[in-house]
Amino acid sequence: MAKKSLLLALGLALAALIPAASAQTNQTDKVETKEQRDARMGWWREAKFGMFIHWGVYSVPAGYYHDKPVAGIGEWIMNRGKIPMSDYQAFAKDFNPVKFDADAWVKAAHDAGMKYMVITSKHHDGFAMFDTKVSPWGITHATPFGRDPLQELATACRKYGMKLGFYYSQAQDWNNGGAASGGKWDPAQQHDMDDYIDKIAVPQVREILSNYGEFPVVLWWDTPHDMNYDRAAKLYKTVQELKPGIIMNNRLGGGFKGDTETPEQFIPPQGYPGEDWETCMTMNNTWGFKRDDNNWKSSETLIRNLCDIASKGGNYLLNVGPTSEGLMPQASLDRLADVGKWMAVNGESVYGSGPTPFGAEAGQFSATEKDKKGKPKFIPAWQWRCTTKAGKIYLHIFEWPTNQFEMPAVKGKIAKAYLLADPKHKKLKFKQTEQGVSIKLPKQAPDAIASVVCLEYQ
Ligand code: GLC
Repeated sequence: MAKKSLLLALGLALAALIPAASAQTNQTDKVETKEQRDARMGWWREAKFGMFIHWGVYSVPAGYYHDKPVAGIGEWIMNRGKIPMSDYQAFAKDFNPVKFDADAWVKAAHDAGMKYMVITSKHHDGFAMFDTKVSPWGITHATPFGRDPLQELATACRKYGMKLGFYYSQAQDWNNGGAASGGKWDPAQQHDMDDYIDKIAVPQVREILSNYGEFPVVLWWDTPHDMNYDRAAKLYKTVQELKPGIIMNNRLGGGFKGDTETPEQFIPPQGYPGEDWETCMTMNNTWGFKRDDNNWKSSETLIRNLCDIASKGGNYLLNVGPTSEGLMPQASLDRLADVGKWMAVNGESVYGSGPTPFGAEAGQFSATEKDKKGKPKFIPAWQWRCTTKAGKIYLHIFEWPTNQFEMPAVKGKIAKAYLLADPKHKKLKFKQTEQGVSIKLPKQAPDAIASVVCLEYQ
């Protein structure tokens, strides 16, 4: 008994120490019903495909410092090259993107079938790509350009019905006193994280949330280095005060979960069942422009990635890194145009679609090759993917079979099957049994990358 009450006393004493922590967990993230969340996430779940834009002063050095290439991704050049603040800030004088045409950028995204854009309003170099009043380190003060590209993009987005979101590096800031991954490299880099949060991050987040009308509709945080609950909560409160309906990713830190998972540069093999998620990915190796990076993914890879992600219930945020002149690299534009052509025919199988009903791995087994156990070999790039809508199943067929397409059993009775690429939706012959469905396909694939068959069922 005595032992028990001692334990109880100990428990109570411990509990008294914990409230701060449990209060923290209570205060993180929104308290909302499923209906409220569904309504808030609605446009984003429908959209499926967006453009990420990494654009800033780092497009001036474009991967080079003192004529030597700096390894790593372009927007990290200041950190990777250990470039002193004064040298890095001098790049801003050469940042004069007079060829920037917001309308052309938004049109390129729109024509690619993208429904939203997320642009870096401030990356880890702390450079504001918007008209900030709280730091001279921004595009309207430190460059000959002097314009606010985010304002111009907001106008163009309204014209094209495009949603606009902002990326904001809330923790790392190598010029304004924020954190630095790997530590500081220049004595000029003062670091008082709380001071930085109060004087730069919070007021700038206030600016980007207040000055662009209905935008941003997404706030994309990144690298929560040195974030703790108090710092993150100040930012979170500012957001809730100004734009409570906004969608935030999961990178704020300080215990905040956010709305979306953000697998970076990969497609999670099973998706994140029941969660909202978005794969962000580069078209070459870098996010921010690097003049030597020509390792472009093929249009085939990008289109199949989009199918793969949709089949696992996610969104695809595909990056473009414009030059210091304000142009999107031609290689990016070419690929966007290819994806756009595909989406114009097959987009209905992507927008607002749900994941495959057959399990994330369906369509990824070889028809001929066997694994060590003699079972069909698992090859991620293989064969086909699938998305769904009410009463419809869409098959994205990558590898065109010679005659019949064989697939697993479908619940419900299939009424008709047709190719989205066929404007007449001519009926394809099929056979449905309890074991599966086989569909008779034309000899020639209508699309060499991914042909889409729609099955309508009751
Ligand atoms: C990383 C990098 C960054 C890039 C981002 C995109 O976390 O720090 O440069 O902006 O990923 O997801």
